[in-house]
Amino acid sequence: MSIILGIESTAHTFGIGVVKNGKILANVKDTYTTEKGGIIPLDAAKHHEQKKKEIYEEALKIAGVKEGDIDAIAFSQGPGLAPCLLVGMKFTRELAERLSIPIIPVNHCIAHLEIGRITGAKDPMMLYASGANTQIIGYAAGKFRIFGETLDVGVGNFIDNFARLAGLGFPGGPKIQEMAKQGKNLVEIPYKVKGMDVAFSGILTNLKQKIESGKYNLNDLAFSLQEVVFAMLVETSERALAHTGKKELLLGGGVGCNSRLQEMCGIMCKERGAKFFVPSNDLLTDNGSMIAYLGEILFKNGDLIPIKDIDKVDIAPRQRTDDVEIKYK
Ligand code: ATP
Ligand code: FE2
Repeated sequence: MSIILGIESTAHTFGIGVVKNGKILANVKDTYTTEKGGIIPLDAAKHHEQKKKEIYEEALKIAGVKEGDIDAIAFSQGPGLAPCLLVGMKFTRELAERLSIPIIPVNHCIAHLEIGRITGAKDPMMLYASGANTQIIGYAAGKFRIFGETLDVGVGNFIDNFARLAGLGFPGGPKIQEMAKQGKNLVEIPYKVKGMDVAFSGILTNLKQKIESGKYNLNDLAFSLQEVVFAMLVETSERALAHTGKKELLLGGGVGCNSRLQEMCGIMCKERGAKFFVPSNDLLTDNGSMIAYLGEILFKNGDLIPIKDIDKVDIAPRQRTDDVEIKYK
């Protein structure tokens, strides 16, 4: 029996989850949003600083857990924005020191993948489509390997940038999804797949010109953006499945909340006889319970930092999925 607390603070969301024996007891979070414009790292960090205590207390209350019951604290070590990561790391250290319990550093991207176990996925290829990241990740020969990825920005950031150009606030994804439903005409925009990788910045430039020309309906642009960009993601995911022989596709990351992306992935999987898994929205976007969930797996494997070595606990803003050593598989 173990009770693990997980802290997430890589970017816009500060979240705390509590997990006990693979079950989520609490998943509390608060996301920094803006009316206009994108995310400012220092403002997001300020948001986390202001909310952390309240979220912590709320998570314990919902989980029905007392401080003394917690066996270890897992935190998102990276990748992410340094000012935001620091808030989570310092809070983790503070709590661990006070409660005298070990710390478990967790890779944020692998946590997005491992929480998929809750949906029944066993050995999936994950299409990880979030704000800052776009990767196709699967486990092979001792590591989580990246089979394809963005050559420039993450698909969510790309969508958020488009939304900003269209005069909408952050996050843009949910707004674009609603606009796309009103779009009727497929406007031609570039399709950028290079080998197993994808690229979005050229598409953004193209869309910027289209917005500025004033000749296009914004709903049509949102609709076309989704059709083209999601087709790029589905094409590369399908090839990763074919290449590895894996039979499961898992969606991860905030863009995975998009109903059209889910639909397109579902169709592809059905056509090739693969199973498709998608966690609920509160587990797709950044959250503390996926950190606690992977934290528990690592804890049971003894993969932790004892309190005497607390000085070794640090953030890793540029940590890569395929650099992380996996001892629990
Ligand atoms: P990571 O640190 O994992 O790279 P992240 O910190 O940006 O990601 P997530 O919470 O995984 O965070 O994803 C946020 C992104 O998801 C934002 O870019 C947002 O616009 C996008 N998003 C959320 N809902 C939708 C939706 N329905 N359709 C498209 N995009 C969406
Ligand atoms: Fe994320």
